[in-house]
Amino acid sequence: MDWDTIIIGAGAAGLMCAAHSGGRTLVLDHAKKAGEKIRISGGGRCNFTNMFCEPSNFLSDNPHFCKSALSRFTQWDFIELVGKHGIKWHEKTLGQLFCDDTAKDIVAMLIAEIEANGAQLRLQTSVSDVEKITGGYSLTTSDGATLHTRNLVIATGGKSIPKMGATGFGYDIARQFDIPLTETRAGLVPLTFSNGDFKAISGTAVPARVQANRGPAFDEALLFTHRGLSGPAILQASSHWHEGEDIRIHLVPKLDIFETLRGKRTTSGKKNITTVLADTLPARLVEFLTPSLDLKGNLADHSDKRLQEIAHALTDWHVKPSGSEGYRTAEVTVGGVNTDALSSKTMESKNTIGLYFIGEVVDVTGWLGGFNFQWAWSSGWAAGTAIRSTL
Ligand code: FDA
Repeated sequence: MDWDTIIIGAGAAGLMCAAHSGGRTLVLDHAKKAGEKIRISGGGRCNFTNMFCEPSNFLSDNPHFCKSALSRFTQWDFIELVGKHGIKWHEKTLGQLFCDDTAKDIVAMLIAEIEANGAQLRLQTSVSDVEKITGGYSLTTSDGATLHTRNLVIATGGKSIPKMGATGFGYDIARQFDIPLTETRAGLVPLTFSNGDFKAISGTAVPARVQANRGPAFDEALLFTHRGLSGPAILQASSHWHEGEDIRIHLVPKLDIFETLRGKRTTSGKKNITTVLADTLPARLVEFLTPSLDLKGNLADHSDKRLQEIAHALTDWHVKPSGSEGYRTAEVTVGGVNTDALSSKTMESKNTIGLYFIGEVVDVTGWLGGFNFQWAWSSGWAAGTAIRSTL
């Protein structure tokens, strides 16, 4: 064998794995540069982990699968690594940690780590063919070379942002080796509405609680756009949303709006209901909701029953997206390599010795907020250290 380990994909998971795998390790990537998604992440500052990372922050057909890797290489281990490289960071909100300076620091850190481990990086190289041979794998690359390796790690990520080099390569390899896949779809993505439903209030943002049918409720900002709904609350809910389903929006999550309106009926009964609501919600949004909620008249004219109807409409607003912006803008791909086929300790395929899947290609998807990188670090570490222990 030319190599102990070949890792396809020099993204977050592949680089982390190469930093720990030991032996003769080669990382291949068809892109010009390693870690391109890291570089553009978090608005150029990379939300590299989350202080409150827990298995419950991940979606998967098997919610237990991520526990082992996340508990053995934790957010605190990554924070320590970042500290060792002198990278300064800060918490933005909700435990989300960002670089003070630039995401490029994280890429440089990972490159330094793989060099320290003696691993080699070969960019602008794609793999056209993978074959199982006795004791390992044979790979044919775009430059016509044939490479033999004992272990093969697939770290090619998901389908999100094809223009940045995302491909379905990892899923093709899984199919080639009879490894099952779960259904994939765009996640952490804005939702679209075909009739331009929110065009009139495009640019308006509100703190809201948003829930897709099958998922948890997320209390974060919601943004109305000319194509539909966006903002962190919507991105979070989008990962749980399936086509044809409603999403539920609570527009006043921090307030008992019925009691507030009832109280104001005593103190400000002569005010128009829309004026009173505009104390709590953006005036443009109140104006937008006026026809559908039939908002009219002074607050004093509203019975408890009517106030309850208005409160209900504001706290359990059902809207049906026509679709999502898709992989073009999605931050992640939900679904992927079925975790039943992998060891949760090592990420190795159960039916094909020496074949590993790590990072986003696996059916483990994090919430917005640094969780997807943490999964890439933890799963990359798990595979890397497992491989090292076999050399
Ligand atoms: P990743 O996509 O990082 O790497 C895969 C690598 O494989 C790429 O280098 C690619 O070129 C290569 N590749 C693909 N196909 C190949 C082929 N056929 N041959 C050779 N190479 C191939 N997460 C988070 O936690 N915090 C954040 O701030 C953000 N921000 C963010 C912003 C944007 C715009 C996006 C699109 C995504 C994020 N994410 C994020 C998500 C995060 O970037 C993502 O989950 C991880 O990068 C996944 O790491 P992987 O290593 O699995 O794949």
